[in-house]
Amino acid sequence: MSQARPDAVVVLAAGKGTRMRSELPKVLHSIGGRSLLGHVLAAAGPLDAERTLVVVGHGADRVAEHLAEVAPAAKTVIQTEQRGTGHAVRVALDALPGLGNGTVVVLNGDVPLLSTGTLAAFVADHGTNGRAATVLSGDVPDPRGLGRIVRDGAGAVTGIVEERDCDDAQRQITEFNAGIYAFDGALLADALGRISVDNAQGEEYLTDVIGILVGDGRPVGAYTAPDVTETLGCNDRYELATLGRLLNDRLLTDLLRSGVTMVDPATVWVDVTVTVEPDATLLPGVQLHGATRIHAGATVGPDSTLTDTVVEGGATVIRTHSTGARVGAGATVGPFAYLRPGTDLGADGKIGTFVETKNATIGAGSKVPHLSYVGDATIGEKTNIGAASVFVNYDGVHKHHTVIGSHCRTGSDNMFVAPVTVGDGAYTGAGTVVRKSVPPGALAVSGGNQRNLEGWVESRRPGTPAADAAARARAVGDSGAAAASGEAPPAGADQSHQV
Ligand code: UD1
Ligand code: CA
Repeated sequence: MSQARPDAVVVLAAGKGTRMRSELPKVLHSIGGRSLLGHVLAAAGPLDAERTLVVVGHGADRVAEHLAEVAPAAKTVIQTEQRGTGHAVRVALDALPGLGNGTVVVLNGDVPLLSTGTLAAFVADHGTNGRAATVLSGDVPDPRGLGRIVRDGAGAVTGIVEERDCDDAQRQITEFNAGIYAFDGALLADALGRISVDNAQGEEYLTDVIGILVGDGRPVGAYTAPDVTETLGCNDRYELATLGRLLNDRLLTDLLRSGVTMVDPATVWVDVTVTVEPDATLLPGVQLHGATRIHAGATVGPDSTLTDTVVEGGATVIRTHSTGARVGAGATVGPFAYLRPGTDLGADGKIGTFVETKNATIGAGSKVPHLSYVGDATIGEKTNIGAASVFVNYDGVHKHHTVIGSHCRTGSDNMFVAPVTVGDGAYTGAGTVVRKSVPPGALAVSGGNQRNLEGWVESRRPGTPAADAAARARAVGDSGAAAASGEAPPAGADQSHQV
């Protein structure tokens, strides 16, 4: 690719994007977890151009802020008034002094499906043919709204005409301009100085450069993209959704061919930044975002949304919403789990049903099976947390940490009032409010002993169905009510709920 290494890549991203009907600048809308502009820059990155410029204007501050995050090496140039694509490139060239005959690649900021492979082949074609300008073209049955590639009788490109400026014959042309160009830098600068605003929109059209160079007798050509979807632009939300689905299909096709199992690809969505290893399984209704990685042998779904989450081999994640978590090898999560940032579930561990976790390290083989909140906690290995437990991490001002050791058995309906520590091998009784640390191997119980006030319902709630039921039970000598009088045994770990 070094032969075709461009002097500059110029991305046009100053337009208003009126048809998006959005507060957000058009190029900041995303598909596949990346902005339209981010896609274009990602495609161009491997060309390794000497300089990358992005022309910003509409929403310039937001676009520049975004660029600082996603492409810090790119330089922004402000086009204060959006006077057309030709004007935008003129503004960019003013920021590129000393431009020689090297290649300048110009990319519309709203063509997100363009691949690096196609772009590189396009730039190489421009170089090997020694052209002054090459335009990337596509062909679709109905290229409504797009600039048409006009050719002479011999098939040579003679210019580009915007749809609004087309005559009837030109409007029938199906070959269109994708808004991707390679130019000889010096010839581009010269031609831009000669474009007019004599067109339907009264704008400086970059596309007019093609006709001007042809008039100068310079070699100009079009390179047709092998896959037309790569050339599609985005002007409204319908096109945004359409391009988003095309991108998703492309990503899923690659994953399927690489050995990922999907029962229903129509309901699976992945970001471009996601990794799914061969022999992983994605069940219906799965969305994977950000830096999510699914290892070989893991199964995700149905109906799970994972962001920045790592799922290791042999793990299963069912009906789960997860952000910033790691699920260890062989572990199980869900159904109906909510994993928040900082959740780290060890190998063969379990986060079960209606369980929320945050900033919690749960050791290998440890289980939080039912109806619990585990926040700001470290749990050792092979510990079982009883059903309906809450890690009380917030005192109203600060968050505090709870440490639970290994091989613990905590009872159902426990409150761990942080900061508190439960030692290795300790037990806690059902309903315990753990306010003080529990030594290793101890049984912690809290609350008074149970008292049964015999006959209370019949004397205080006479005539109610409960009182009648109690009377009937006494009459048949049911041992249940009578035998339970007297001292209840201390709440013990035998009452904790484990599965
Ligand atoms: C443009 C092309 C058209 C092509 C189509 C492909 C022109 C005159 N027309 O039309 O031939 O078929 O793209 O999608 O170039 N921009 C600026 N500053 C401006 C105006 C636009 O930076 O003053 C940027 C926009 O942000 C956008 C790109 O240039 O990223 C294209 O502008 P847009 O208005 O979308 O051009 P189209 O009408 O789609
Ligand atoms: Ca456009």
